[in-house]
Amino acid sequence: MKNISKSERNKLKGHKGLAVWLTGLSGAGKSTIAVELEQQLFAKNIHTYTLDGDILRTGLNKDLSFTEEARKENIRRTGEVAKLFVDSGTVVIAAFISPFANDRKIVRELLGEEFVEVFVNCPLEVCEQRDVKGLYKKARKGELKNFTGIDSPYEKPENPELTLNTDLQDLQECVQQILEFVLPKIELK
Ligand code: ADX
Repeated sequence: MKNISKSERNKLKGHKGLAVWLTGLSGAGKSTIAVELEQQLFAKNIHTYTLDGDILRTGLNKDLSFTEEARKENIRRTGEVAKLFVDSGTVVIAAFISPFANDRKIVRELLGEEFVEVFVNCPLEVCEQRDVKGLYKKARKGELKNFTGIDSPYEKPENPELTLNTDLQDLQECVQQILEFVLPKIELK
């Protein structure tokens, strides 16, 4: 009896696995980029899956709040799940605020070379103006506590593999920038 190796899985899929980690403020565009990126990878016959903070918080992570400790656990669990996906040969896209540099560092260490940190950068004022979910308004009124950017910090990545400026670049440009970095990385040699 022999376990199936990572290279055997990669060979079957035709590419390597990778975790593309999108971090940034609420409203910066992480989920929108994740959806479009997955569509474009999928169209190239790449095996993909998206882990989105909003969605995981309705299931696996529904017991977690937005305190520093709870966010740490949110990111820890997601990092572990991402590692399983990568091991399966999948390109997994994670869209999480993941505001704390140390939590992201832990995931980076867990995944090693198979981790790409993408800073989805957008000024707070712009995110707040967009306020797609009306949460900034609530946070400003004090109805929502520990809201990232308002009364909870966001620690910008210091050395991300990629930075996207969603107030200046359109969606296609952002996705193109990720694809140019990701496609050579997942290529089977
Ligand atoms: S993280 O900080 O733990 O990484 P995550 O990405 O899972 O956050 O979830 C963020 C989403 O939860 C936001 O897009 C928003 O819709 C919602 N949310 C609810 N309360 C908060 C809060 N206090 N701070 C940030 N996001 C919140």
